[in-house]
Amino acid sequence: MCGIIGYIGDKNPKGILLDGLKRLEYRGYDSAGIAVLHDKQVEVFRCQGRIEALEKRLSNADFKGSLGIGHTRWATHGAPTERNAHPHQVGAITLVHNGIIENYLEHRERLQAMGRKILSETDSEIVAHLFDLEVSQGKTLLQAIAAVLPRLKGSYAFVVLSKNEEDTIIGVRNGAPLLVGLGDKENFVASDVQAILHRTKQIIYLKDHQIAVCHRGNVEIKDLYGKDTPFEVKTINWSADQMEKAGYRHFMLKEIHEQPQALAQTIETNIDHQSGLVSIPELSSLRSWLKDLDQIQIVACGTARHAGLVGRYYLERFARISVKVDFASEFRYRDPLLSTKSLVVLISQSGETADTLAALREAKTKGAKTLAICNVRESTLARDADLVLYTNAGPEIGVASTKAFTTQLAMLYMLAVEAGQANGNIDETYAKELTADLLKLPFLAERTLLLEKQIEKMAGDHLDCSFFFYMGRDVQYPIALEGALKLKEISYAHAEGYAAGELKHGPIALIDRTAAVLIIAPKDTEPTSAPEGMAEHSKTLFEKTMSNLQEVKSRGGKILAFGSENDPSLAQHADCLIQLPAASWALNPVLMAIPLQLMAYYTALFRGTDVDKPRNLAKSVTVE
Ligand code: F6R
Repeated sequence: MCGIIGYIGDKNPKGILLDGLKRLEYRGYDSAGIAVLHDKQVEVFRCQGRIEALEKRLSNADFKGSLGIGHTRWATHGAPTERNAHPHQVGAITLVHNGIIENYLEHRERLQAMGRKILSETDSEIVAHLFDLEVSQGKTLLQAIAAVLPRLKGSYAFVVLSKNEEDTIIGVRNGAPLLVGLGDKENFVASDVQAILHRTKQIIYLKDHQIAVCHRGNVEIKDLYGKDTPFEVKTINWSADQMEKAGYRHFMLKEIHEQPQALAQTIETNIDHQSGLVSIPELSSLRSWLKDLDQIQIVACGTARHAGLVGRYYLERFARISVKVDFASEFRYRDPLLSTKSLVVLISQSGETADTLAALREAKTKGAKTLAICNVRESTLARDADLVLYTNAGPEIGVASTKAFTTQLAMLYMLAVEAGQANGNIDETYAKELTADLLKLPFLAERTLLLEKQIEKMAGDHLDCSFFFYMGRDVQYPIALEGALKLKEISYAHAEGYAAGELKHGPIALIDRTAAVLIIAPKDTEPTSAPEGMAEHSKTLFEKTMSNLQEVKSRGGKILAFGSENDPSLAQHADCLIQLPAASWALNPVLMAIPLQLMAYYTALFRGTDVDKPRNLAKSVTVE
């Protein structure tokens, strides 16, 4: 949440800061601002709303100078007004902040008692006062920051400049992401690599409590005591083109269409083509340990948790290990029962979600082994977990997660197959068939995307529905949850996801002629070596879901069905039917997610909402 950028070099910073903010806008878009330092004067421009509004306001502004900072805000403390927008300027200090300072009220009271005038409702302005107090007593900016940080509780990434130091910008982090980009006689500080990747690929990812002192010609990395501390410069392999819309109207649509490739990239590195088996290199050290594992706890938020719910079905079927799935925000506070034989799997696209990081710390404290499934390299989660499996989805910029979700499913599938082989629950023949199936997934996803026009029509024909009820059974239940989440977050339509068997336990009361009921009912195929009973299991699930369909139909609800092309039976009952390529029980959730993403996308498009920047949301929730 909140995007941050800082620039110091020999160019005019206005364009660099505005461009960086546009690339960060998915992190928050309530208000924005920039500040530029020149000749001991700082000019600050802030406004409520999007970067476009800021850009308009700045169209005639002619800045001098060659260093500055910028911010796009997702409001936590204080309403999204111009007064609360960043940068905050207090005396010699100007700063931008991402995070929450938990003890800001006690500092605020003390500052007010000293006669300091506080102009905003933010915690960030309070910190600007604290830095300024130190600078006004003769400290350098670095000394001032080092003096104040131990008195702050909470999470933060700050980028700070002082009127008195025209060749310095300082960035510091604790619990919120911040990185430094190294250029030629210029340097950058940013909350995400997206902001600067088209300018440099040489990146220093700051660790908690590190301070980056950036000058035009060099960067120093210090610890909290101002001492030099070792750091690594990484070369990033994401290309700047991946950050563009590439002709698509929205990032979300582009990312939906990137799924075949993202899946192929995620699967490819974990297959041993010689043996025809899944083989995740990062798990090699864990194989014997996996054998004795007594439980897996999956922890994540939002869409990533829905992936975890699907993962539970995979792991319980293929590896017969008991799996629990929890919201990270619940897990971290409930004193979970873990031991050294527990594996905690943390799933996160960004690797910076505050609750998921707190859950990781909780799991480590309790002695469990931790494994991250993560999309962003060098993110805090990826760095701090014992093991990390990367989904190679490429950058995901649309606020609604799409390709990150389906690649997480592919990774969980592979984890389950590996764990099942390690503990002897699946034999080599079955594992080979499951692997061969998985290799077809990118192609099946590509074929599923060909249904786009039909789904667009389905969305357009049902815009007037009062509410959207998604239901699925077994491994499709989490997909119902995910479909409903996608629809509500970008189109603001009221949607609920339910396990189909729960229909009669309450929600059926909501069904009438105005409701659309989206039923996920594929006909699963099974590998020939699947254990006995699997095909029967899928058949039973299908029949049960068909009964639920009848219950809805007899109450007047409109049936929008998502089935398989090998199944003629749904056609008789559905008001609208989308038929996907036939696939296995384990692959169908991945495929079914795709039309539901498109359904959400087109409903939002027809309703005229901002698909890539839905109201009140931000891409990465780095505060609790
Ligand atoms: C929904 C969505 C969110 C995220 C959640 C976790 O489309 O994107 O629900 O899935 O905020 O984010 P990560 O995966 O970055 O931890």
